[in-house]
Amino acid sequence: MKITVSRKAHFNAAHRLYRKDWTMEKNQEVFGKCNNPNFHGHNYELIVSVTGEVDKETGYVIDTKILSDLIKEHIEEAFDHKNLNEDVPEFKDLNPTAEHIAYVIWNKLRVLIDSKMELEITLYETPRNFVTYKGL
Ligand code: NI
Repeated sequence: MKITVSRKAHFNAAHRLYRKDWTMEKNQEVFGKCNNPNFHGHNYELIVSVTGEVDKETGYVIDTKILSDLIKEHIEEAFDHKNLNEDVPEFKDLNPTAEHIAYVIWNKLRVLIDSKMELEITLYETPRNFVTYKGL
């Protein structure tokens, strides 16, 4: 029997969407207000979902305390109250769109969670805009 266990988390972070190899005009045309040179912030809501077999002895797929500690240590501490472009090495040469943030989070957690389990990341950049990545 496979079940999905999810944990919600939260971080505030600033970013700017732009490409160094594009002109200011082209960046403005594609990224609009998100290209503001002085950065802007979002309240990111994160949902980490782990799907796997229910352990016969514990009845757990994954201990949610372990999952919440992994998210706290490896995601919240790395991203919360940070400027993603300038403070987080993964975005040095990667535009910190919601898509890329979800991708980076998935990769950071994937190596920490048993490979027998599936991992899915849902990241809300605003209450209405969110992305999902499951490693495909
Ligand atoms: Ni933004």
